[in-house]
Amino acid sequence: MRAIVIEKFGGPDSLVYTELPDPEPRTGDVVINIKAFGLNHAEMHMRRGEWAEAAEVIGIECVGLVTSCPGAKVAALMGGLGRTINGSYAEYTRAPVSNVASIESDLPWAELAVVPETYATAWTCLFRNLEIAPGQTLVVRGATSAFGQAAVNLAVNAGVRVIGTSRDRRRFALLEELGADRAELEGPDLSERIAEAKQLDAVLDLVGNSTILDSLAMLRRGGRACLAGWLGGLDPISDFNPLLQMASGVYLTFFGSFVFGKPGFPLSDVPLQEIAEQVAAGRLKAKPSRVFRFEDVREAHRVMEAGEAKGKMVVVLD
Ligand SMILES: NC(=O)c1ccc[n+]([C@@H]2O[C@H](COP(=O)([O-])OP(=O)(O)OC[C@H]3O[C@@H](n4cnc5c(N)ncnc54)[C@H](OP(=O)(O)O)[C@@H]3O)[C@@H](O)[C@H]2O)c1
Repeated sequence: MRAIVIEKFGGPDSLVYTELPDPEPRTGDVVINIKAFGLNHAEMHMRRGEWAEAAEVIGIECVGLVTSCPGAKVAALMGGLGRTINGSYAEYTRAPVSNVASIESDLPWAELAVVPETYATAWTCLFRNLEIAPGQTLVVRGATSAFGQAAVNLAVNAGVRVIGTSRDRRRFALLEELGADRAELEGPDLSERIAEAKQLDAVLDLVGNSTILDSLAMLRRGGRACLAGWLGGLDPISDFNPLLQMASGVYLTFFGSFVFGKPGFPLSDVPLQEIAEQVAAGRLKAKPSRVFRFEDVREAHRVMEAGEAKGKMVVVLD
């Protein structure tokens, strides 16, 4: 099969096209003929050598057909894909059955590929970690990212009032088109500027370690903040002293999609089928922002690295 491997850590040119043997069937695993896969920051961090683990073939998610079951469409995500076992930057992959979900959908592969990792993670952050409910007010920080747009889509569709942030006022219209009530300029002092300070029910923070304390400062008593992205960088929070820096009565929670398929986090918890149906019905505006050919993955990484993705980018195989 054709596959893309990392021969050395570095820029997009470290992604090298090669031929590898097709994965053999194995008990407990599903061999998938990959039709399309979404691109993720995790893969950029793996390529640069910044992630704890990276397999020879990176790629943490895909959609495709089960080789042993003609016509069976599936999505696969995490479960070590691209980290500890060869991932989705290839024509075939072998994923643990715990991390494969059957999806019946007539969506084109490019559109279905938007769903697995991004929507499973956004759904879990919103409806499990934040336990967001209709009528509540949610701030999504880093809302123009692919993950952020998925969260805005899901929350708006669930009757939540959403305020999204972007560093660029020209991108506010995008968030309003997705149904956000309004947008705010992203910055480290948002808690001091936002009109709903101390009244907010929830914050989904994708800017990350550099803003999470500010997010906690804008919650009402009993409000929740979920840290699930690192758009502002991977540096740890230095000198975190809850006594001095944390508001009383608020909740801080974290979600990393690497737990999908592990005890306590079955993939079946996430309504991927229902999400795909809502995408097909147009209730979730989940079209890919860019579709690349397999031959153009290096270019896709350049676009991601430059912050020009403007939404979920996917790669489609012939
Ligand atoms: N927890 C998990 O399991 C999980 C799963 C998937 C992804 N993630 C993480 O979620 C984040 C979003 O991923 P993605 O693939 O959706 O990203 P993406 O689409 O590539 O995000 C790009 C957007 O991020 C914003 N951005 C870039 N640098 C920023 C900065 N320094 N401060 C604030 N905003 C910045 C920009 O928006 P503006 O120009 O509009 O400000 C940019 O348009 C990443 O950190 C990723 O690693 C986590």
